[in-house]
Amino acid sequence: MARISKQQLISYEELDDTNDLTAAEQALWQAARDATAHAYAPYSGFHVGAALLLADGTIFRGTNQENAAYPSGLCAERTALFGLAANQPQHAPIVGMAVAARPAQGQFGPALPCGACRQVMLEYETRQSQPIPLLLPSRTGTILRFDSFALLIPFNFSADDLP
Ligand code: THU
Repeated sequence: MARISKQQLISYEELDDTNDLTAAEQALWQAARDATAHAYAPYSGFHVGAALLLADGTIFRGTNQENAAYPSGLCAERTALFGLAANQPQHAPIVGMAVAARPAQGQFGPALPCGACRQVMLEYETRQSQPIPLLLPSRTGTILRFDSFALLIPFNFSADDLP
């Protein structure tokens, strides 16, 4: 029986700062930051904002929504995607997403989507049959740009795995 070592590479861009973004990307980046003002995060004190750019130029926002029963809360990435699908079922394709996070009174820091959000993000990208570019603030203060949500969740579970 063969045992073969393999590697899987993930392609992404790392940008120094917002000057390296396009005008549309800058607006999306700022929208995610602005959205953090509307997070409901009294328990963690960690305010997260997510912004979705639609092909018609509109931006739809999400923020984390916490609860006294902690697991009942939801991340910003998912409130954005679920909120869009629930409120605008006929929405134009999603052509970009950005995420931002900061402590209640602090500076913006890294915002890397949790595993559950990556799974949900994949579902919505697959649903629209069009890859969605993603902008994330890294742990070192740079901007990470991915061409597709799928890059963030290799070996994922999807509808293809259902019988
Ligand atoms: N959170 C998000 O909104 N997005 C993430 O990707 C990671 C975590 C939220 C959930 C919770 O309200 C707070 O941040 C602390 O985990």
